[in-house]
Amino acid sequence: MLQEPPVATSSVPLQPYTPELAAALAPRYERLQAVIPEAEWAVHAPYVAAIEALKAERHAVILAHNYQTPEIFHGVADLTGDSLALAQQASETDADVIVLCGVHFMAETAKLLNPDKTVLIPDLEAGCSLASSITAADVRALRQQHPGVPVVTYVNTSAAVKAESDLCCTSANAVQAVESLGADRVIFIPDEYLGKYVAKQTDVEVILWQGHCEVHERFSATELRLYREDNPDVYVLAHPECPPDVLTEADFVGSTAGMVRHLEKQRPPQVVMLTECSMSDNVAVALPDVDFVRPCNLCPHMKRITLKKILRTLEHMEYAVDVDADVAHRARRSVQRMLELGRGEGR
Ligand code: 13P
Ligand code: SF4
Repeated sequence: MLQEPPVATSSVPLQPYTPELAAALAPRYERLQAVIPEAEWAVHAPYVAAIEALKAERHAVILAHNYQTPEIFHGVADLTGDSLALAQQASETDADVIVLCGVHFMAETAKLLNPDKTVLIPDLEAGCSLASSITAADVRALRQQHPGVPVVTYVNTSAAVKAESDLCCTSANAVQAVESLGADRVIFIPDEYLGKYVAKQTDVEVILWQGHCEVHERFSATELRLYREDNPDVYVLAHPECPPDVLTEADFVGSTAGMVRHLEKQRPPQVVMLTECSMSDNVAVALPDVDFVRPCNLCPHMKRITLKKILRTLEHMEYAVDVDADVAHRARRSVQRMLELGRGEGR
């Protein structure tokens, strides 16, 4: 259960934005200047410097999801990526402390893979509508309804739900995960749209749950057609959490990292990414030759993470994410099976 965190700020003294500080951080700002004006960088830079200093002192690593804002993603993160990459990197780090800039289930997954490390999240309220759409009791009820049918669980779930599952997956390897069990039928939870997308690509019968991402469910095929009308050559990429009619009309469907890889290879001149707002900003930094049409559906949970809160997290070493030992033991098996699967081709 997520708890309401006390409101507090960091007491770490911040350097003023002097020419010396600007020069020290110039290589970072060079990457960011396409998406962050200098007046805004002047506000971020003192936090970036203070976070870097504390990170070294704590022997900490910052992992940031693709939906984090550019000043976090390109400013202070050591490792970045989609849910699968963050889990892979969390399983490999030798840092003492992991600060997860993303949402709670991502921090829990990092903790499952690093039971002896301190895993911190800068805001405990950073949840996910998919994760809150299903409980462990719901999974047990589904198993009773469908005896003997294995459960494949999208990683956007609590550790308690993962513990009731046979296998986890991300959007990058969902089809592989469903097929890996060798079953005729699987229960796929909780994302109905991702489940339907998987069902279209396999002969395995997929039993669905009606969870949705509150960000991606807002995209529509009508909106997609309007982008095409206004920009006749635009290349459309969509996350598989979008509704089925959006996915049918998109040119490419994949995880957030899958989209980046695809763009790096294809380099279409003009692109629209039907996913969370910050994604286009972060990719635009890396691909300055691509023109991004930027629809904006914000994930309010991802946006709870800020530089100020990251600094506070490192100063006070909170909020530590913990998972009950028995739940962790069972959930870890499902996550490890997901890591063994790796990434689906191009996704
Ligand atoms: P990815 O695994 O594609 O990064 O997706 C995570 C997520 O929360 C999408 O909304
Ligand atoms: Fe959850 Fe959707 Fe936010 Fe991703 S974008 S964290 S799926 S609410």
